[in-house]
Amino acid sequence: MNNFEFKNPTKILFGKSQIENIKSEIPKDAKVLMLYGGGSIKKNGIYEQVITALANHEVVEFGGIPANPEYAVLMKALNVIKAKNITYLLAVGGGSVIDGTKFLSAAALYEGKEPWDILTNNIPTLKGMPFGTVLTLPATGSEMNSGAVITREDTKEKLAMGGAGLFPEFSVLDPQVIHSIPHRQLVNGITDAFTHVLEQYLTYPAGANLQDRFSESILQTLIEVAPKILEDQTDYAAASNFMWSCTMALNGLIQKGVPTDWAVHAMGHELTALYGIDHARTLAVIAPSHYEYNFESKKEKLAQYGEHVWNITEGSTEDKARAAIKRTEAFFNELGIDTKLSQYTEDYEGTAEEISKRFKARGWEGLGEHKNLTPKDAEKIVKMAY
Ligand code: NZQ
Ligand code: ZN
Repeated sequence: MNNFEFKNPTKILFGKSQIENIKSEIPKDAKVLMLYGGGSIKKNGIYEQVITALANHEVVEFGGIPANPEYAVLMKALNVIKAKNITYLLAVGGGSVIDGTKFLSAAALYEGKEPWDILTNNIPTLKGMPFGTVLTLPATGSEMNSGAVITREDTKEKLAMGGAGLFPEFSVLDPQVIHSIPHRQLVNGITDAFTHVLEQYLTYPAGANLQDRFSESILQTLIEVAPKILEDQTDYAAASNFMWSCTMALNGLIQKGVPTDWAVHAMGHELTALYGIDHARTLAVIAPSHYEYNFESKKEKLAQYGEHVWNITEGSTEDKARAAIKRTEAFFNELGIDTKLSQYTEDYEGTAEEISKRFKARGWEGLGEHKNLTPKDAEKIVKMAY
């Protein structure tokens, strides 16, 4: 187990009717920009709850942030921040709205000319404009971490950013928001959170028993609650467990002291950038091939995962590891998620070469927990996923 430090400054307000408490979290004299997506919050009552809670605050609104938050739209919001002298941001939405808000938090204080440089030049944000979030879709963990992923349609890019200055000051997690989530987004959320754990767990044994148990318990909880929330979105106990699992999967806790991979996300982001495939679905496409391709270096943890999470106890380490990959793919399929690129686009030929070319141009020579996966390896993995 490696040396580590664990600090997470986001305050969580978890439970029923917590939205009304945001009034005590946002400074009274703040000039608030409330950011949201395509309008779901106006249909499910979340918008009214936020507006009511902030009745005594000065609030300006900016709606229309699309899934995979788009740079051009966010630049319009940045103009509003400057023109209206905004001092506090409030994201009301899923990962896309929260990530867009993180970009704005950084861009609002950025002194360079072109905020896109924050992403292309990997500039960490050590101080951003303060912001809070009201989470409407459990999936990404963005509500309790300091990372964001921003899309640029004109160049078909999707790049990550982050830094210690980009933790939300608070996040409201009211499991009742799950009532109105479309089935497609619910299964995406389960798949995304599940893969977040895999990225921080399916590496090599590091003697970190407690972290391994944390990861396994999140995976087990997701497997347990998935059928319950899909059957009944008003099942509050299942919704609570689902929501907390998603947050805990990517708030930094389970990665402390252990190696992490993240190559599945790196390749997946390119599939979203190129074809607009939902984030979680790109992970379900890449993950099985990635684990198959890196079988030798991952087989011990794959076998442990198979045994502890899926009760696969028969056979050798290799047998259990292979069965664990198959079981994972079957889990995604059972949720209704396709796991081959050709099921999403007919234009898949050449994708692997294009991704390899992009990684090479960015100088990404060492992906994965051993930092030894080259762009050529990524090409082979993506090809296996056709
Ligand atoms: O836009 P509206 O109308 O609000 O509808 C949204 C959107 O269409 C809808 N929705 C959200 N909450 C709802 C709801 N509909 C009904 N009722 C509700 N309560 O769901 C749709 C998808 O929303 P989106 O925010 O795009 O989904 P998600 O939370 O999955 O976020 C995906 C984005 O997060 C990034 C992804 O790459 C992608 O851009 N990620 C961010 C991470 C992070 N910051 O840590 C990590 C992840 O790995 C991921 O990369
Ligand atoms: Zn993800």
